[in-house]
This record gives sequence, C-alpha cells and structure tokens, in this order.
Amino acid sequence: MFTSMTVINILLSLVFLYFLGKYLLNMYFEGINRPEQWAGKLKQGKITRELQKAQRQYGDKSRFFLFWLQIERIKKEQIQGTFAELGVYKGDSARILHLMEPTRKIHLFDTFEGFIVADLAKEKGEAASYTPTNFSDTSVDEVKRFLGNSDTFVFYKGHFPESAQSLDTEKYAFVNIDVDLYNPTKAGLEYFYPRLSPGGVIIIHDYSYKWEGLVKAVDEFVRGIPENLVLSPDTDGSVLIIKNSVHT
Ligand SMILES: C[S@@+](CC[C@H](N)C(=O)[O-])C[C@H]1O[C@@H](n2cnc3c(N)ncnc32)[C@H](O)[C@@H]1O
Repeated sequence: MFTSMTVINILLSLVFLYFLGKYLLNMYFEGINRPEQWAGKLKQGKITRELQKAQRQYGDKSRFFLFWLQIERIKKEQIQGTFAELGVYKGDSARILHLMEPTRKIHLFDTFEGFIVADLAKEKGEAASYTPTNFSDTSVDEVKRFLGNSDTFVFYKGHFPESAQSLDTEKYAFVNIDVDLYNPTKAGLEYFYPRLSPGGVIIIHDYSYKWEGLVKAVDEFVRGIPENLVLSPDTDGSVLIIKNSVHT
C-alpha cells in the first residue's frame, strides 16, 4: 500500500526528472542546432547573457536563428530604417528582436484585444476556428511591463492598417508579420513593402497548409514584386522577402 508520503515522493521525483530531462535536451539541442556564426560570436563574448538565455528558452531554435542571422546581416550591411512587428500578442518575439538589436526603434502593431470579426469572416482551414477571444488576453500595459523600460518600443494599439496612419514616411529595415489571417497579412505586405529599405527584410510567420488565407495573401502579393519568396525550415514555416538593392 502506498502511503500519502510515498505518493508525494514519487510525484516530486517525476517533476525532478521532467525538469532534468528538459534541461539535458536543451543542452544537447543547443549544441547541435546553432549556426557557426553564433558559436563564433559567443566565443568572442559578443552575445549578451540575456540573449543567450532567450536562445536557451526559445522553443523554435530555427526561428530564433532566422531572426538573428537576418538582424546580424542588417547590422553588417548597415541597412537603414527602423524595425516593426505586426502581431505582437504578449511580446515574446518583440523581446527577442529587441535583445538582438537593442539600439533600433521597434514599432509594435496589434489590437492588443485579439482578432476582429471582419478579419475572421473569410478564413478557411485552422484560422476558421478562431474567434475574437483568441489572443485577447493581453494589453499594452502588460506587454510594456514584460518588455521592460526601453524607449525603443513604440506602441500602435488598434486595427491594422488604420493604426499605422501616423507613420507614413517611416523606412523599415526589418519587419516581422505574424497575424495568422488573410486580411492583416495582405495589409501588412502592402503597407511595409514600399517602405522597406533596399536590403531590408519582411519575415512572415506561419506560411503553411494550416493557414490558407495567409498563404493566399503572401502568394498574391509576391506575384506583383520582383523578389522571390525564400522558405525557412522553422517549425511553423516562415517566409522571407528581402528587398532587392538598386544597382546602377
Ligand atoms: C500569433 S499572435 C502574434 C504572436 C507574436 N508575434 C509572438 O510570437 O509572440 C497574432 C496577433 O495578431 C494580432 N492581429 C491580428 N489581426 C490584426 C489586425 N488587423 N490588426 C492588429 N492586430 C492584429 C492579434 O491581436 C494577435 O495578438
């Protein structure tokens, strides 16, 4: 017969084994999944402790390093412009982008109240099961607290693209679009692409069969520009558009 103490001991051991396993797996995958550029910068002491920690904790290492490699390229090539994220939710990816480039302004666009009904109306596939309550458990104040005290973050609360009206002349070097649906993805591409500096990048998250509307918006848009879409092997399938440089 198990006594209650035995049951508690077993449960505690299981919890301990779970965290030990998670830690060891993390150490193992950190070793084999990181690009050589990252390892080199680590050796030179050029990766902050906070960014190293964020890397260890971030589930999708390929997405993490996709961001990092693009941001390193933007810094090296001195691509002009600010950063932007359309689809912020609680600020997880915004925080990582900031840790990777702490000196640039990041414009953050979200309703901070979840999706709006009009954007959901036409969706098929996985997005058809969304309701306005998805991603509604956040707020500007909560994200500000999470991101900490930096004046590089500028918040635009409201429905995109109307929320971007005050920013018409801004130039962008890096844009992360992560909004899951046809309407805001299309609006994001139409808004940011003309304002992207040569050599600047737009990364669109979730380009996969699960998000039919989003894929349609990206495919329609790319037909009208000279650049090709570059597919990334991160878990949810990001795609990149790097604006052609003007050659004379
Ligand atoms: C998948 S979440 C973003 C996750 C975030 N990038 C991260 O990695 O932590 C999608 C977000 O897009 C926002 N969103 C969707 N359509 C929008 C629109 N038209 N205008 C503003 N925000 C929108 C939602 O409110 C939601 O917070």
